[in-house]
Amino acid sequence: MFRTLAPPDATEFAGKRAIVTGGSRGIGAAVVQRLLDGGASVVATARTVTDETPRAATFIPGDISTPAGVQSFAAAALRDLGGADIVVNNAGAARTHLGGITSIPDEEWLDALALNFLSAVRVVNALLPALHEAGPGSAIVNISSLTAFTPTPAMAHYGAAKAALNAYGKALALELAPAGIRANTISPGNVLTPGADAIRQDFADAAGVQLAEITAGVPLGRPGDPRDIAEAVAYLASDRAQWVSGVNLNIDGGEFPVV
Ligand SMILES: NC(=O)c1ccc[n+]([C@@H]2O[C@H](COP(=O)([O-])OP(=O)(O)OC[C@H]3O[C@@H](n4cnc5c(N)ncnc54)[C@H](OP(=O)(O)O)[C@@H]3O)[C@@H](O)[C@H]2O)c1
Repeated sequence: MFRTLAPPDATEFAGKRAIVTGGSRGIGAAVVQRLLDGGASVVATARTVTDETPRAATFIPGDISTPAGVQSFAAAALRDLGGADIVVNNAGAARTHLGGITSIPDEEWLDALALNFLSAVRVVNALLPALHEAGPGSAIVNISSLTAFTPTPAMAHYGAAKAALNAYGKALALELAPAGIRANTISPGNVLTPGADAIRQDFADAAGVQLAEITAGVPLGRPGDPRDIAEAVAYLASDRAQWVSGVNLNIDGGEFPVV
């Protein structure tokens, strides 16, 4: 079980304006809450609000898998906050195709790339002028996946999209470093969230095992809690990470097996 942490420094993000995609539930909701707890003003988006969506954030409903959706969200977020210091590209999703790689239809490859990769590119493109205006110390955090390093045929499209996000994140960090804007990536392992639980249920059903068995092998003894990822986001978004850019941080309970 996730061990309760001491309350974070409520002033760490005071005066900071944060924008989080996919902030309605799961990892995104935990990130929104963690940034709020650190004193940030937060705007979040997703298509639907849920019971998990932190109420102290401004929620702007929308679909960020299209250029128009990103444009309208970015404009509304900037109107609300008056600028941006922190951008967290968290929205993402995968659908399993247990029939193998060739059973993934062309439109699903395009959907996977649009949501898991191009949404981040488009959000950054739309918000970069605001980040430049905010100046040194502003930060981007992209949420990728361990799957980009350990791809599975059933989610080849998702793994490929996240691998593209990893490469993009590195290039972004290089480009923005002279302006003092940092860009980093987090690759979660098995974190218990509504979206990921549905995927793991598909794998459990196919293997004829209980859902809990899918995450039983995590070396640190438990699957991840969304707050495990939110803590890493808070670190990378903060001045504590002021000399950190271009990294890809695996937050996975020790699961990634290679150096
Ligand atoms: N949980 C894990 O084990 C795990 C592991 C590796 C990587 N990740 C990554 O972590 C991120 C968060 O995943 P999660 O596990 O928290 O999943 P989740 O519970 O399914 O949450 C995904 C969030 O993204 C939003 N979203 C999905 N499609 C969207 C769209 N077209 N436009 C706007 N928002 C959209 C969802 O809201 P709506 O559906 O209402 O739009 C929701 O807020 C994703 O990028 C995922 O790939 C998760």
